[in-house]
Amino acid sequence: MSIQYHAERKCFYLDGKDVTYAFRLFEKHPEHLYYGKKIPHEDLNHLHITGALSTGWIAFGEEETCPRCHLQSELITYGRGDYREPCVQVQNAAGDRLSEPLYVGHEILPEKPRMKGLPSMAGGETLVVHLRDDLTGFEVDLYYTVYDDCDVIARRAVYRNAGNDTKFLRRAYSFTLPLRGNNYDILSLHGAWVRERRMETIPMHHGVVSIDSKKHSSSDELNPFMGVLTRGSDEHHGNVYGVSLVYSSSYVLKAEGTMNDQTILTGGVNDFDFTWKLEPGEEFETPEVVIAFSSEGLGGMSRAFHDAYRNHLINPRFVRKSRPIVINNWEGTYFDFNFEKLKAIIDGVEGTGIDTFVLDDGWFGENRVDEKTGLGDWHIVNQNKLPGGLKPLADYIHSKGMKFGLWFEPENVGPDSDLNRTHPDFAIRVEGRKPGLGRWTMSLDLTRKDVRDYLVETVNRVIRENDIDYVKWDYNRCVTDPYSLGLPADRQAEFAYRYALGVYDLFERIINANPDVIFEGCAGGGSRFDPAVLHYFPQIWTSDNSDAEERTLIQYGTSIVYPLSSMSCHVSDIPHHNTNRTPSMATRAAIAHLGATGYELDASKFTDEIRAEVAGYNAEYRACEDLILNGDLYRLDNPMESPFFTYLIVSKDKNEAVLVAYRGLDRLGNPSHEYLLRGLDPNKNYRVEELDKTMSGAVLMNAGIYLRFAHYDFTFKKFHIKAVD
Ligand code: DGJ
Repeated sequence: MSIQYHAERKCFYLDGKDVTYAFRLFEKHPEHLYYGKKIPHEDLNHLHITGALSTGWIAFGEEETCPRCHLQSELITYGRGDYREPCVQVQNAAGDRLSEPLYVGHEILPEKPRMKGLPSMAGGETLVVHLRDDLTGFEVDLYYTVYDDCDVIARRAVYRNAGNDTKFLRRAYSFTLPLRGNNYDILSLHGAWVRERRMETIPMHHGVVSIDSKKHSSSDELNPFMGVLTRGSDEHHGNVYGVSLVYSSSYVLKAEGTMNDQTILTGGVNDFDFTWKLEPGEEFETPEVVIAFSSEGLGGMSRAFHDAYRNHLINPRFVRKSRPIVINNWEGTYFDFNFEKLKAIIDGVEGTGIDTFVLDDGWFGENRVDEKTGLGDWHIVNQNKLPGGLKPLADYIHSKGMKFGLWFEPENVGPDSDLNRTHPDFAIRVEGRKPGLGRWTMSLDLTRKDVRDYLVETVNRVIRENDIDYVKWDYNRCVTDPYSLGLPADRQAEFAYRYALGVYDLFERIINANPDVIFEGCAGGGSRFDPAVLHYFPQIWTSDNSDAEERTLIQYGTSIVYPLSSMSCHVSDIPHHNTNRTPSMATRAAIAHLGATGYELDASKFTDEIRAEVAGYNAEYRACEDLILNGDLYRLDNPMESPFFTYLIVSKDKNEAVLVAYRGLDRLGNPSHEYLLRGLDPNKNYRVEELDKTMSGAVLMNAGIYLRFAHYDFTFKKFHIKAVD
């Protein structure tokens, strides 16, 4: 039993692999006591904080003061003397916005029930605490799930109108988590197109630190993640919390430094541009938030997320399966291709171990020669480029023993397309206004079932009729003009959440209809890299920037939350199309092979020599693939702080590891660097073939190894380390 209720103390204890979460009932209020490293189930009542946490003396009736305002509450609500960031605000029929849900019961479920329309972590023993406001009939269920194989707790709230009048949710966050003290730094992952997920740390202060998206997409601007780092902690040491939201539409995550030096974490669906009408009997389900804890610094927190997402979130059919090594034609040809050109690329990779050809943008529509026309016309294959349709290409690829991947962007539509001419009402727009065009397209109204039905039918037909084995699912703009013809006026502010439900329904129906097809997520690069998308797509194109040096930064930042196997990383051409840099093929492969991998260049130009080189890199990749899919990541050098980028990936049984040590610019002063390995077994001996040496784990971790880099930019060393008897 991972979840226990101690009736006398009225205390709930929830244990994950090496974490404990504890709260109790103080009168009828759920009072947070502890989240951190695993501890025994002792009496924790001394952790009750007395004194006003958020207000002066507020008394109600006979009470001396408001108990709720003093609590480290598991659910902060609005209007009754607690001025901290509320988790929920509900407007009652009378127009007041007060609620005071109190404990009425709880259940401990052996398995978490599936959420209705939202992706979430699977399984796990689950506690549901039922709260109710008797005056209004507003009910709240707080869900807590723990797993014995990872250091996270999954939380969410369900809000229900069990009263007789219509209510409006004006805010409906997923959780409140009060942390002790305010001695924290806040880490976020910010970015932009071709510069995704850069780490930024700021000191926690009094008041609210807030990160959010209003784009109806999690976006590359701020990932739906917040790290809360005990001051002084680092990559390898110290207590670190991480909050990761399983949601892809507009969201918010907040850390509030209160007047009494405590820190409250909260967030979920963004309450900006949000109101949800809750009729009697209806409920609103909030997205799940996954909260990791590690006493081993940021690295430990990342490993907790990697385990949680690999074990419980990502499609189990693919998460541990050997991945395709693809050749994608995008950067090789862009829109300018025909059957012969593609055939030459396919022939070009013969014997290299590349096993999947992905045909990117430009294969559909009457005249798609650039971004401006035809998006959405999946039912038409471009006759100028592929006169016989897709089938002859599919047959050719399959005859070579390769798999066939195809690009789609189902969620958007071009104004100059058959789809838009036939169904002008499908695109999101407000009557009388010109819809905003993003990359020459409009967003489809995915809140509408008829729009989704059309897409499911059309995309599934293309996949079925052409024996597609792999789909690259792109999404190149964010929603503007949020409005749906399918919603009444008083439900228009439900749009952002309903749009997310529509996106997930679309994913689910297309992916489930094609269970053997692997789907790769993409959003103009890595603009929608979030846990919800990862639930459906085991890998996501990490960035349109595939320059090896830039990728060290992007992949490092992405690994803060997401496992290596979720990052799609390709070797691209030189000079690089964004940066003009010219690292060697060996360096490009070393960085691109730290995830799900492939190549993105014109392989028809490969010479026999290059083919042999590529075959060597791919063989090496396959030899280390199990570590990429299942290993523990130790980040030894942060490229945001130095020219070095170092990953050490260790197998769970500690019998194998790979060390990739990269050095960017050659600054003359930095040819040599020391590496202290981590995560090995000190008592095992390890063979490091590349050094022609056998050393104990103790030596590798304490004395380490010392490497000298060549005197040119963008160089690396790679070691495959294996335990020996
Ligand atoms: C953006 C993607 O990130 C690229 O890889 C490519 O698929 C283009 N879209 C095609 O339009």
